[in-house]
Amino acid sequence: MNDRLASIRQEILDGIEAHVESRAAAFELRKQFLDSKTGKIGQLLKEMKSIAPEERAGFGKSVNELKEWAQQRFMELDEKMKAKELQRRYESEKIDVTMPAEGVITGNLHPITQIRNQLIEVFTGMGFEVVETREIENDYYNFTALNTPKDHPARDMQDTFYLSPEFLLATQTSAAQIHTMEKKKPPIKMIAAPGKVFRSDDDATHSPMFHQLEGLVVDKKITLCDLKGMLDVFVKKIYGEEATTRLRPSYFPFTEPSVEVDVSCFACGGKGCKLCKGTGWIEILGAGIVNKKVLENCGIDSENYSGLAFGIGLERTAMLKYGINNIKLLFESDLRVLQQINDN
Ligand code: DAH
Repeated sequence: MNDRLASIRQEILDGIEAHVESRAAAFELRKQFLDSKTGKIGQLLKEMKSIAPEERAGFGKSVNELKEWAQQRFMELDEKMKAKELQRRYESEKIDVTMPAEGVITGNLHPITQIRNQLIEVFTGMGFEVVETREIENDYYNFTALNTPKDHPARDMQDTFYLSPEFLLATQTSAAQIHTMEKKKPPIKMIAAPGKVFRSDDDATHSPMFHQLEGLVVDKKITLCDLKGMLDVFVKKIYGEEATTRLRPSYFPFTEPSVEVDVSCFACGGKGCKLCKGTGWIEILGAGIVNKKVLENCGIDSENYSGLAFGIGLERTAMLKYGINNIKLLFESDLRVLQQINDN
């Protein structure tokens, strides 16, 4: 009997020594000896009956000792396998931190979106609220309420896409002035964005669809000085601290007086260069004091209140700021162009 115990012990040692490479294999080996039903050590206990009664106690003790010894060995084996498996995992998942990193391709916002966000930030910083514009307007909001009735010669300033005699694609974001003044009483301080507008116009600096940002302030005693002050803040933020503005008389039916606003040339500092065509100034937007008739059309008392308004072309702003010479580059979705412009 003692021989059998010794040979089982040896078998266990050999087994552990020989083929075990994983926790699963160790478990299988353990089962061969310690499984309560089929294990070799369990089998020995079943043989108790056939042993002479005076030897039984001694035999039982030896089998139990073997069992405990085996349990101990298999516990150690399991620990060893656990460590080995972990080691293998570490090795397979090893990262070489000196390898050059794979480049991460990130997108960036479209230049028009960047400019729009910058303008919104500048004007909300001065207390303007943002309203949305409409892409389809009717004749009243796009023209008539803005003091441009039918047959008014100023209608020829914009080549309109008509959808029907009544409805049209917005030619300017100025209609947002009317929508706002109809809904809200002064004081009003709003910008309208994003502002898609449409005109039958197509060359290197004009596109049938482009974007404007409209501004409107209505309160007591609003003057051209307020307009100039605000626009100076705007040009400094967008074109740099050196930039200043100058106002030139112009004409828009919805403002009186109307002005064309120039920014001092940020390329040459005003000395005269190709960008400013030697004048030192670049035209950037139209603006003015809201025509009393427009205030009255919206039920605002023009004796007590006055307003200022301005309309900024986003494409023009982007083209000047980023040195883009053809408006089409902004609409062709050429990643080589778009990736070069990242101001955010
Ligand atoms: N709506 C004008 C245009 O599209 C731009 C403009 C000029 C807007 C003067 C204004 C303004 O608010 O006061 O040409």
